[in-house]
Amino acid sequence: MKNFNFKSPTQIVFGKGTISKLVELISQDEKILLTYGGGSIFKNGVYEQVKAALGARKVVEFGGIEVNPTFETLMKAVEVGRHEKVTFLLAVGGGSVLDGTKFIAAAIPFEGDDPWDLLSKNAKVVRAIPLASVMTLPATGSEMNSGAVISRKSTQEKLSFGDWKIAPQFSILDPETTYSLPKIQIRNGIVDSYIHVMEQYLTYPVASPLQDRQAEAILKTLLEEADAILAEPADYDARATYMWSATQALNGNLSCGVVADWATHGIGHEITAFYGLAHAETLAIVYPALIRYKKEQKREKILQYAQRIFGLCELPGHNLVEEAIRATEVFFHRIGMPTRLSDYGIDAQEAAQRIRDRFMARNTKLGEHRDIFPDDVFKILLAAA
Ligand code: NZQ
Ligand code: ZN
Repeated sequence: MKNFNFKSPTQIVFGKGTISKLVELISQDEKILLTYGGGSIFKNGVYEQVKAALGARKVVEFGGIEVNPTFETLMKAVEVGRHEKVTFLLAVGGGSVLDGTKFIAAAIPFEGDDPWDLLSKNAKVVRAIPLASVMTLPATGSEMNSGAVISRKSTQEKLSFGDWKIAPQFSILDPETTYSLPKIQIRNGIVDSYIHVMEQYLTYPVASPLQDRQAEAILKTLLEEADAILAEPADYDARATYMWSATQALNGNLSCGVVADWATHGIGHEITAFYGLAHAETLAIVYPALIRYKKEQKREKILQYAQRIFGLCELPGHNLVEEAIRATEVFFHRIGMPTRLSDYGIDAQEAAQRIRDRFMARNTKLGEHRDIFPDDVFKILLAAA
């Protein structure tokens, strides 16, 4: 097992009716910037619950944070936050709203010339406004982690940054808030969570049997519960399991002491940046092609995955590695997730070229061995045509 440094500063308040706990969780004296997205919180009753719980506290609202939140929009919120001298940020919505709010938290007190440097130049987060979330979409794990992914329209970039100062102080997870999610978002959330686990699990053995079993528990749970999670009418227990699985998949626990891959995320972000696909849609395209490309280096863990997750065994004439990758694709298809660039009408040659060029310009190396170079990315994307 590798050395590690684990910190988990986020209080999780989980369950039915827990939005009302905001009354205890935020002090009366805070001046709050309440951030939200395109309006889902007005249709599903979450806004009313939040407002009722905040009572007479001073609240300024900033809505319209888009899916794949943009620097351009968030800088408007930064202006509002500075002008209003807010002391606390409350994100209400999905990962995009929360990631955007993490950026706002770091950008308001940023003392350099341009807060974009937090993303493009790894500028240090010296201070951040305290923040918290009411998370309504299980997927990103943002509710319990220190990362954020921000896009910039003008340059078609999508970059991430992280610091413990931008981790939420608390996150309220009420599975009932997920009832209003369209199926496509739930499908996306299941796939994003699944691949978060795979990025931290499917590398090479580092003597981490506990972390492996923890990862496998989440994978198995998502596989077994997916139909119930997607069923109508919504099933509370299945949604609760989904919500907690998504949080556990990327709250830092699984990455303790192991090596992580994250190449699929790196490539996927570029597909979103250039073609606008939802985050999880990009992952489902890249992941199967990437593990096929890296199957020799990942062989031991793929065999473990094949046996423990899908119950596949070595039989003469069977290719266990390919069967495990195939079973993963079959799962994605079963829940309605496409796995090819052509499913979205994207020309693979063009996409592969654009992303290779960008990675060459940035000198990007990906994967647990940092040996996925721009030319490899080109081949992986052609294989995902
Ligand atoms: O904007 P509103 O109107 O709220 O609607 C949203 C949006 O249209 C809607 N929605 C959210 N909760 C709902 C709901 N609709 C009905 N009922 C509800 N309860 O769902 C749509 C998608 O929301 P979004 O927040 O964009 O989805 P998600 O949570 O999947 O977040 C995606 C973003 O997170 C980043 C992605 O790259 C992407 O930008 N990620 C963040 C990570 C992190 N911070 O650790 C890790 C991930 O790998 C990922 O990169
Ligand atoms: Zn993800």
